[in-house]
Formats: sequence, structure tokens, C-alpha cells
Amino acid sequence: MKLLLVEDEKITRITLANTLADEGYRVTSCETGVEGLEKIKSDKFEIIVADLRLPKISGLDLLKEAKELQPGCKVIVMTAYASVETAVEALKYGAYDYLIKPFSPDKLLATLNNIRRFKKIQDENIHLKQRLGLFENRTIIGGSRQILKLMETIKVVAKNDYTVLIQGESGTGKELVARALHFYGPRVNGAFIPINCSAIPENLLESELFGHEKGAFTGAVKTHVGLFERADGGTLFLDDIDDFPFQLQVKLLRVLQEKEITRVGGTKSIKVNVRVIVATKVDLQELVDESKFRQDLYYRLNIIPLKAPPLRDRKEDIPLLAEHFFIKRDAKEKVALLTPTVLKKMKNYDWPGNVRELENFVERMIALSDMEDWENELFAYLSSGETIPQQVETEEKDYPTYEIFLGEKEKEIFSWAIRKTKGNVSKAASLLGLPRSTFRSKLEKLNLE
Ligand SMILES: Nc1ncnc2c1ncn2[C@@H]1O[C@H](COP(=O)(O)OP(=O)(O)OP(=O)(O)O)[C@@H](O)[C@H]1O
Ligand SMILES: [Mg+2]
Repeated sequence: MKLLLVEDEKITRITLANTLADEGYRVTSCETGVEGLEKIKSDKFEIIVADLRLPKISGLDLLKEAKELQPGCKVIVMTAYASVETAVEALKYGAYDYLIKPFSPDKLLATLNNIRRFKKIQDENIHLKQRLGLFENRTIIGGSRQILKLMETIKVVAKNDYTVLIQGESGTGKELVARALHFYGPRVNGAFIPINCSAIPENLLESELFGHEKGAFTGAVKTHVGLFERADGGTLFLDDIDDFPFQLQVKLLRVLQEKEITRVGGTKSIKVNVRVIVATKVDLQELVDESKFRQDLYYRLNIIPLKAPPLRDRKEDIPLLAEHFFIKRDAKEKVALLTPTVLKKMKNYDWPGNVRELENFVERMIALSDMEDWENELFAYLSSGETIPQQVETEEKDYPTYEIFLGEKEKEIFSWAIRKTKGNVSKAASLLGLPRSTFRSKLEKLNLE
């Protein structure tokens, strides 16, 4: 750690400098406040230890300057007088601690150790917060056309309160999109509550969402506040909405329309201010057609439809996503494992489990990478589902008569030649390798003037 020592008393200065150097600190020492100030201006220090009583520029002035110029720097002041007031004043100006002279060098070392510990925790905290940001899933990664478009839409849609229906295969990032809508919108300080409709038994879902009054049913020993009330001011994310029980759908429709709920077993209406975002893996319209989903609810939910595209349709995002997951797993140094060969294999794979599968794959890569034949393991995984180039199915179509067909084709090629030469007949004729007269008469025949 780089440390600046400012002390006008020669013996104290030399003793302290030596002790600190022995402990591994990189010490710069100087005698006056003026010198000290120069050093602060020209060099960066993590710690400054300064005497308070210095000629001209005092330790307090130095402290104020240091706080301006190097905000992260910790300052310890020393005072020869047991004048606690000046020392306390120094604390007010942001000094980390003070030492009353005379003190043993050990005392200073102990204070410095505290700073060290503090800094370590602070660094860890910054690091953890960064990673938490990744874990909280606010960042949508991707540079593909589809993702850029999606992000653009999210930014616009986030600002209002309309219901959003997110459709996409498993693992495409539907919940991530929902979170982004919440975080980029005015409800950011409210709660974001996700709930999976297919994971909760039908009879529980109602009281989970709308709450129940005490005694509403056997076992309802206490009043239960439901998710709609708890998400007040925030966002409720209903995943797998296609699994939402038919009988409950009308109740959901009512919240969306009236913005109020009634607890199970209750009579009074309770106002709720909640944005609802729903997601589904299946085509809801089909369920409506099969009368498994209420049409009115579908219309109400489908105000703004968003689509989370499958990963196989945007394979160019694979490198960015993979790198992101290495960082998310705190294994940035292993990004190098993504060699061109590995990436190529990854791009040949179809990722039926989409981004979630890719995330798991990266985790596996990190876990296996210390083994000798890790590549083979992973390649085996990837090639088990490698896409076999699909035979392009040409649909059998009906042709008109030979004459008509040829006429069409002739028209096509002649029009092209004319467009290409901007209507210059001579040039168009030579472009097709025909005598000018032949070209002309053909034009007339084809009704192309
Ligand atoms: N574009 C992306 N950028 C970064 N991470 C992503 C992206 N898409 C998905 N993920 C990550 O992949 C994982 C799966 O995403 P998410 O849970 O949002 O998918 P889902 O569509 O809701 O899945 P399911 O259909 O199974 O509920 C999450 O960890 C998410 O953070
Ligand atoms: Mg989900």
C-alpha cells in the first residue's frame, strides 16, 4: 500500500518511516505541509499519515486538500497535544482516525491494519455488487438484430403500465425481459414478484394471488395477504399463464380491468396498483380456440405482445452470452476456453433449452476445464444434438402451360434488362446478347414498353 508520511519532527519521521517500510508499506515521507501537498498533487496514495501541527500548511489543510484530490484515500492525523478538539475536527473533515503523541509505532500499525481490512471488505463489496447485478438479471445480453429490437421495444414499453404478454420457448429469457420491463420503468422502486402459475396447485393459487380472510376455509387460521397486495406499487410476473386455472381467469380479468381484488372469503374490494406481466411458452390463441383460455382475458393480456426469440435463430449472440456467463460465475479468466474451435461447435448446436442451456453448459465448462480431456466431454455433448443440415423441402407446386411459363420468364428477364440499363434499348439488347431489332420486337410482343 502506498503511504504518505508528513511529519516535521525528524526522529519521529525516520522511526515511523522505517517501521512502516519494514511492514511492507511503500512510504514517501516529507517534512512540511507544502511538500506534502505537492506530493498529493503529483502522486496517488492509499493512506496519508500527517501531523496536525505543521508550519504554514497545517495537517488539517492537508486533510481537506487530500479529500478533494484523492477521495478514496484514508487519512490518519497525529497530534502532539492532547488537544482532542483539533483531532475531532479532523474527523469531521473526513479523517479516518487520530493518534495522540506520543504513541508506539505498533499503535499506528494497528490502525493501518484496520484500514487494510476495511479496504478489503470494501473491494469485496464492490465486486459482489457487480456480480449481484448480473445475478439479479437486469442485463439482457446480445447484439443480434432480434435482441436489439427487443431491447428497443422494452425501453418504450417499460414506461407505461400496459399488460405485456411475453411469448417464447423455455429458457429464452422471458423472465429476464419481465425484469427489464420492471427495472427500466417507473416502478423500479417497487417490488418485482415472479410467480409460476403451473408450479402452484390450483386450490392454493387463488389465495396465493388474492389472499384470504381468516376462517375463509379450513386451515385459514390467519388472514393472508396475497401477492397482488404485496406487489402494490410494483410488478407481478405471472409465468406459464397458459396454465392459469379456467375458473380463476375471470378473477384475474377483474383485477386487470378494475384494479381491485377481493380476498378469498372476504367481501370488501381492495384497490391494488400493480403492473401485470405474463409469459407463456405456448400459443395462447390456440388455447382460446380450444376454449381452454378465456378470450376476453386473452385480449386483455395481449395488449402488448413481445417475443423472446429462440437462441438457434440468433447464434451470433452465443459468444457474447457465453462470455457473460463466465463473468457471472466469477470465472472471467476462463473466457479463454472459448477458442474458435469450441465456438464453432457451439454454433453448430441447436440449443433446444436456449439461453438457460447455454448457461448450464458454461458452468459445466468451468467445472470440467481442469480435467485433461474436457474438450472431448463437451464436444460429445454438443455433437449429440448437432444440427444435421436440413434438406430444404421444396414444396411441389403446379406449373401453368409451357407457353405461359416461358412468357413469364421472358417478361422477367426483359424487364430486368430494361431496369438495369435505365431504359436504354441498345444497351439492354446487348446485355442479353440479342440483336437490337429482335429485342425490340420481343418487347412489343410481351407488351413491355
Ligand atoms: N439475453 C440474455 N442475456 C443474459 N442472460 C440471459 C439472456 N437470456 C436468458 N438469460 C439467462 O438465462 C436464464 C434463463 O432465462 P429466463 O429464466 O428468463 O428464461 P425463461 O424464458 O423465463 O425460461 P422458462 O421458460 O423456463 O421459464 C436466466 O439465468 C437468464 O438470466
Ligand atoms: Mg421463466
